[in-house]
Amino acid sequence: MPVLSKDVPQEELSSPTADRWSDVVWETAPAKVNLFLNVESRRADGYHELETLMVSLGLRDTLRIQSLPGEELEFVCHDARGVAGLATGARPLDLPPGPGNLVWKAAQLLRDQTGVQRGARLELWKRIPVAAGLAGGSTDAAAALRGLNRAWNLGLSLAELRELGARLGSDIPFFLAGRPAAICRGRGELITPLDLPLGLALVLVKPTEGLSTPQVFRHCRPEGRRPGVAQLVADLRRGCLAAAASQLHNTLQPAAESVSVDVVRLREAFGKLSAAGHLMSGSGSCYFGLCRNLGEARRLAGRLVARRLGSVFVTSVASGVRAA
Ligand code: C5P
Repeated sequence: MPVLSKDVPQEELSSPTADRWSDVVWETAPAKVNLFLNVESRRADGYHELETLMVSLGLRDTLRIQSLPGEELEFVCHDARGVAGLATGARPLDLPPGPGNLVWKAAQLLRDQTGVQRGARLELWKRIPVAAGLAGGSTDAAAALRGLNRAWNLGLSLAELRELGARLGSDIPFFLAGRPAAICRGRGELITPLDLPLGLALVLVKPTEGLSTPQVFRHCRPEGRRPGVAQLVADLRRGCLAAAASQLHNTLQPAAESVSVDVVRLREAFGKLSAAGHLMSGSGSCYFGLCRNLGEARRLAGRLVARRLGSVFVTSVASGVRAA
């Protein structure tokens, strides 16, 4: 029998589509940022070998899954960005509606691999900005794999789901690690989960223009192996934010700056603020500041909204999100 997640946002609970609980599975799909991302080398298969520290955020999408008696797949996406999504010129949601969407691909892959002949209605409330380096599509796909595994009673382990997820995208296994922080290696799919103190406060800015991940990787200069991630983890565990901030690193940032003036502007704007540290996330274009507490994150968010650099979010590692 599918289990109902306890973590159901109120807007979905009160929505007219929230019908019989027993047929419905809910999944939350958190965004991530990379506190450290070192691209080591270019591989023969076109991917890059990397080492990255990923942490999941309170900023999240929500996926509702209803198992259907036939074999039909339905996918509906709602714009749930609210005030933050509307701030300073955000575009309408631009997501592939049907089989091109990673949620749909995850459902199809599960059916192909398990032989299950079931259908589902997949309804997504989308808050995470797209083409932002926050892994919005990857986390939705991971949520679909988790949720359909329950809704269709497939009994796959997290390790089996990670193996399937890796076929759809390099960031997906992280969201199937069962922990909010991990060091990821290989092309991103080799996961070492970590215990880190939660509640790190962040302010994020997503410029109107997103960035293409393949394009940014094409422009990057691999750096070989680079120390830093172990020290960063140790500093975060000690609660020493200033030391941790000095270890923030992203090889993809110079590459993104070479193709996006927005990222340059964000680095310059964050350089004038008092955040403990700042960095572009993943392949961009989202930029974040690491703050001493949520109060500081909110103060900085106010100043960033005034600068009209993009949509601004206040969030923390694996807790709630506020629109600024
Ligand atoms: O794995 P995913 O489909 O998310 O990757 C998207 C693109 O990002 C790849 O096609 C590749 O161009 C680039 N990429 C890479 N090295 C990685 C991960 C992604 O070059 N480790």
